Amino acid sequence: MNTKAAVFLDVRRNVGQVDRRVFGGFLEHLGRAVYDGIYDPGNPLSDESGFRLDVIEALKHMRMPLVRYPGGSFVSNYDWRDGMGPKEQRPRRPDFAWKTVESNQFGVDEFIAWCRKVDTAPFMVVNLGTLRAQDAAELVEYCNLPEGTFWADRRAADGHPKPHAVPLWGLGNEMDGFWQAGHVPAEVYALRARQAAQLMKGLDPGIELVASGSTVPFTPMPTYMEWDRIVLEQCWDQVDYISTHHYTGDHAGDTRRSLAEGVALDGILEDYAALLRYVRAVKKSSKSVYVAFDEWNVWYRTVGQERAWGRNTTSLFEESYDLKDALVVAQYLSSFIRHADTVKIACLSEIVNAISPVLTRPDRVLLQTTYFPFVLFSSHARGLSLVPIVDAPLYEAGDMGNVPLVDCAATCAEEEKRGAVFLVNRDLERGFMVEVNWNGPPIAEIIVVSVLSGYDPCAANTWESPDAVQPMPGAARVVDNTRILVEAPAMSLTVVEFSVRSRSGD
Ligand code: AHR
Repeated sequence: MNTKAAVFLDVRRNVGQVDRRVFGGFLEHLGRAVYDGIYDPGNPLSDESGFRLDVIEALKHMRMPLVRYPGGSFVSNYDWRDGMGPKEQRPRRPDFAWKTVESNQFGVDEFIAWCRKVDTAPFMVVNLGTLRAQDAAELVEYCNLPEGTFWADRRAADGHPKPHAVPLWGLGNEMDGFWQAGHVPAEVYALRARQAAQLMKGLDPGIELVASGSTVPFTPMPTYMEWDRIVLEQCWDQVDYISTHHYTGDHAGDTRRSLAEGVALDGILEDYAALLRYVRAVKKSSKSVYVAFDEWNVWYRTVGQERAWGRNTTSLFEESYDLKDALVVAQYLSSFIRHADTVKIACLSEIVNAISPVLTRPDRVLLQTTYFPFVLFSSHARGLSLVPIVDAPLYEAGDMGNVPLVDCAATCAEEEKRGAVFLVNRDLERGFMVEVNWNGPPIAEIIVVSVLSGYDPCAANTWESPDAVQPMPGAARVVDNTRILVEAPAMSLTVVEFSVRSRSGD
């Protein structure tokens, strides 16, 4: 017998369009993400460029509109020039971040070619740790300017006469973190970022820029929000987004707390919404700056994995994900949708092998549990983000307080005659019958109901049992064109997509 819960949605009560760029990814030179991950020349599964075709296929289903590259902490001591020109002439360099050797066989041109094959846009991060504003500007020149200047001509000479047209750029990575090469106080970073932004936008005024904001590794940094305030006050006119990073996980072995993570994420995004409004008001600006949540994921089992020169760094951070992790990933995506007016960009960190939904072996790929919520949200969320009112029993979730057992996000694309509801049932034992009350264009019929669920929160897909956790068809029915009754099993993500009629009746 299912317990009852209700959700109330009114299409007029929304926070604007969901920006599809919240379904972005992040690829770093880290462990086996690039080498042995997306790039594996000589492997029979790779194409003539060395790109693994089975990986491309898996990633294409994720429909990521952009991929951030090349780091992450890696970028903060990386010189993009090392990864250009003939491969046999590229230098091998020590990588400060991951205590390994970077062969530079994969660089900017390879990344752009790979993006075109995955059908995604490049989001390039520049090194503001150990390089200067001028180096960042020269990378913009290399990527985005037409032939006729030194670096643009180098790109053409390297076989790419047409500009790479990179639309989005990150001004450094996690510059608030003591672990970051070139870490400096907020005031110093802000100055660097402003100088770089001036040169970069001076060369290509069409690009958008992301300033490096607060990292929330597991608990907020001491400079959380204060760093962002200083950076935003100094760079408001130059940048379009402030980044934030957040990783989470079931450190305490407390599944019930872990499943309340959506509440913590809502809190972070509400902090940013308040700060962005504050700085905009102080600056008396008519311009808006948004959040780029450009690293997020569940990551805890492999945190602290030894990093030291000479140790095995090839398979760093290959986290194995289970059902409860997938339900946390679903809550990140729900939270991004609920805060569509604040967050316009988000990047799953990362996409292949290192802390990733896709793992590779030389002969095949494994799709981890966290792959499926991403695909479901990315495929079905479109249009306006509706403000859900959830009426569900509460449970006690440690530091998160009393949390509703049902998490909800919802979208409506009236011009496409589509709506979608995303429900996470946090209850470990009880299923819910969720009554979705809909005030909007009349509901016509259910298009699809997908459920990711299971009896064991620790269930995972493994090489031996790759299909243990998969989305299955679920149950939902429309009542009176205004309600949907959805069965949400215990520990589940249930996604319902439905068609709506136009209000004029056709
Ligand atoms: O994604 C792994 C690392 O986590 C990134 O390099 C860094 O930005 C973050 O701390």
